[in-house]
Amino acid sequence: MASGISRRTVLGVTAGLFGTIGVAPAAAQRAPTPACVEDGEPTVPQSAGPFHSPNAPLKRDFRGDDPNGVPLALTGRVQTRGCMPLAGLVVDLWHADSQGRYDNRGFRLRGYQLTGSDGQFRFDTVVPGLYGGRTRHFHVKVGPPVGPVLTTQLYFPGEPRNAADGLFNPDLVMQVEPAGPGFEAVFDFVLDRP
Ligand SMILES: [Fe+2]
Repeated sequence: MASGISRRTVLGVTAGLFGTIGVAPAAAQRAPTPACVEDGEPTVPQSAGPFHSPNAPLKRDFRGDDPNGVPLALTGRVQTRGCMPLAGLVVDLWHADSQGRYDNRGFRLRGYQLTGSDGQFRFDTVVPGLYGGRTRHFHVKVGPPVGPVLTTQLYFPGEPRNAADGLFNPDLVMQVEPAGPGFEAVFDFVLDRP
């Protein structure tokens, strides 16, 4: 039937795209991120690593920094342990390009956004490449312009290198789905505030 053909087609495309970046097709079908749980655990901190650059620009769209990269929209919310949205917070994102290289001189694939009134943020970027012994990841700092900041990293579901990366933490895995020529990734941050 038409719907069956359509489903097979979608699954075929899904497998191809996830194969492109080494993410298992099954990852596309994982359960959605659960809704915010009152008094839930704050997001796990991780090291910034050696490649953070202070003073990155206000920037939402990184795609022009790596035109050959696979597009990925990263969205989410920043909220308290009590599920209250946190507006006006800095979300500072930096990551390797599709070839696994960081720009340590300029601000390619580096920038920050401010959360909206609903705590939401969005970046249009590309899928980061692999480098060294690391699995695929984003780096992020989240917090007020002045004050304590959560530094952590975000990971991809089903990435083959996750198991071999000592920093990998399943609590920091994004929800990733195919979207158009690329992917949509979602992660909600919970800061340690009541
Ligand atoms: Fe890194």
